[in-house]
Amino acid sequence: MATPRPTAPSNPAALGEDGPGPRFQHPTEREFARLLDFYRIAWDYEPTAFPLVWSGDRVTEAFRPDFYLPERDLYVELTTMSQRLLVRKHRKLRRLRELHPDVQIALVTRRDFADLLARFGYGAVEITSLPAADIERILASPAEIAARVAALGARISADYAGRSLVLVGLLKGVTFFLADLARAITRPLAIDYLSVARPQSGEAASDRVRFVRDLDIDIRGKHVLLIEDIVNTGLTLDYVVRRLREREPASLETCVLFDKRARRLVDVPVRYTGFDIPDAFVVGYGLDDRELYRNLPFLCVLRSTNKSPVTSHEPRAER
Ligand code: IMP
Repeated sequence: MATPRPTAPSNPAALGEDGPGPRFQHPTEREFARLLDFYRIAWDYEPTAFPLVWSGDRVTEAFRPDFYLPERDLYVELTTMSQRLLVRKHRKLRRLRELHPDVQIALVTRRDFADLLARFGYGAVEITSLPAADIERILASPAEIAARVAALGARISADYAGRSLVLVGLLKGVTFFLADLARAITRPLAIDYLSVARPQSGEAASDRVRFVRDLDIDIRGKHVLLIEDIVNTGLTLDYVVRRLREREPASLETCVLFDKRARRLVDVPVRYTGFDIPDAFVVGYGLDDRELYRNLPFLCVLRSTNKSPVTSHEPRAER
């Protein structure tokens, strides 16, 4: 299975005004498309015309909503707050709903954008007081993460058919991923956690990583899947894998959600990978910067003013 690599959204308008792509009727639509691209929400521009009025066989009035958002099967009609336009659009919408009751459509004003984002899993941005202006780039949206975790869960379930397993999570960044992944695995499983600390300055390199919380479960003879949020140099994972092998599990595999291959120092085998990501300090979906931003439901790179000088490229002493 090829590992997805977050890329620029494929929507043509992401290339800019002059590039190929839809010819937007209105600047507001172009701005809306840019916002959708930023949040990695897939869209189509005016893909469908719904007939509203006929004269005999001939359609005399149709309604073509501005956007279709396939991840939520949702049509969006943008509107200004102008009363005249609103009344007309509400009339069309009522007619559309009568004729096509299965079609989901939202009338969206500029003010409604936050509500729309919440439908795509971006509600927590407000909670953590992280304005969009502080986000440099979103690398994985809530929908992309959910789809990838579901796919990993299905693959692991198939690979472990007829067996039960022990999921071992490396605290703390793994908590969200482990919770979601465990529910996507359809095999009987136990869950346990390890916590490791890194050497303080002056400690020997051989003590690079050490356990500060060990497993409760005896893994001898068990099928163990070690779950990690992100792998960078590979030193942490390599150390933990070697220590767990000494306990003679029946099998030991690794599963990593985000892989920064460019920073690898140790060739540690990763059996299941969620996403390959570029070499940048990332936060969200469990990953922190000085304990903040773990509860962002997406993965992003923050603007440099927000990056911690301690964490931006060096691993921290405690995870
Ligand atoms: P490694 O031993 O260099 O592979 O480091 C892996 C650990 O460093 C992860 O478990 C994280 O705790 C931390 N880490 C590495 N990159 C990032 C990042 O971009 N954001 C937040 N934590 C990170």
